[in-house]
Amino acid sequence: MKKLPVIKAVDQDVTDRYAIYQGDSCELIRGIPDDSVHFGIHSPPFEGLYKFSGSDRDLSNSEGVTFWRHYQFLISEMLRITMPGRVQAVHVMQLPTSKRRDGFIGMRDFRGEVIRAWQDAGWQFHSEVCIWKDAVVAQARSKSHRLNHKQVVKDSTISGQALADYIVAFRKPGDNPEPVSGALKRYVGEGEGPDFAKFTTDTDSRNWFSIEVWQRYASPVWMDIRQTRTLQYLTARDANDEAHISPLQLDVIERCIDLWSNPGDIVFTPFLGIGSEVWAAVQSGRRGLGFELKDKYFRQARINMTRETAEVTADALASLAQEAATDAPLHDGEAIGELEPVS
Ligand SMILES: C[S@@+](CC[C@H](N)C(=O)[O-])C[C@H]1O[C@@H](n2cnc3c(N)ncnc32)[C@H](O)[C@@H]1O
Repeated sequence: MKKLPVIKAVDQDVTDRYAIYQGDSCELIRGIPDDSVHFGIHSPPFEGLYKFSGSDRDLSNSEGVTFWRHYQFLISEMLRITMPGRVQAVHVMQLPTSKRRDGFIGMRDFRGEVIRAWQDAGWQFHSEVCIWKDAVVAQARSKSHRLNHKQVVKDSTISGQALADYIVAFRKPGDNPEPVSGALKRYVGEGEGPDFAKFTTDTDSRNWFSIEVWQRYASPVWMDIRQTRTLQYLTARDANDEAHISPLQLDVIERCIDLWSNPGDIVFTPFLGIGSEVWAAVQSGRRGLGFELKDKYFRQARINMTRETAEVTADALASLAQEAATDAPLHDGEAIGELEPVS
């Protein structure tokens, strides 16, 4: 068996249900054996859109070619540690451009750039889903002229759509030694979901509950994600932080986990943040594994992992956010200040 390097983490919490480590993913990942991770889901820094810390090791401090070289190292390492035939899911969005930085106000195909980077590393582009966003909420957060009705009246050539979220999924080539099998046993998302009384058996391909859940999950656009169902994060911020942690919606993570992993599987993220992916993995009966560079986020993840019900309701989050948000968009990508006024 190949000998793995011994990697030292700054801090760690290891239990039989999860292992979270503080340190640089690019170093820590070298300690994970080949073909040992069953599934992964993560939200990478969107190049320099939000800066999470001042560290050079922080991917959000790498720009251009350096960013891609940095991320590509992790993409290749994820290919090594993932089981053949298994999936890694990545949360991305298209990025806004600015007049100052790009010379025009519009969009950059970051999603496409991520897909190309994964393909270049040897992954198969497997699937993608678009996650609906409310343009009115996006406008209120970003103050973007592109989303203003006033702009439509003035000159609509400047107007454009709000930026959606996407999950892009990649499959490692090879035969999957452990099929992810069984019917879908729960529905996560807006509303009640299908009637569980329609449930038949776990292995029955005519399991009506599972069929109806699958019909919603197979949709190319997820309109029914609860946007504010996220892990609590406000205590992980400093007043003078330039960071905008963007907790991924738990509905999105849980759907992906249900689709692409078995109970007991190891679910990995190289960008733990405040712990959303690992927390959802454990709540879904999987084992979570994550790395986080920033001390404050790691400590928040540690707290979150010890809470059985760390979710906050939409109302609670909204009022907490109002108290603290001078500069923090909750999740919506369009960074305040990134978009320049039109005239
Ligand atoms: C978009 S956030 C992830 C948020 C996470 N999905 C959640 O819901 O909590 C990206 C995270 O990557 C971390 N990060 C950036 N570079 C890193 C590195 N080299 N090693 C480990 N973590 C890193 C940042 O500190 C930040 O917490």
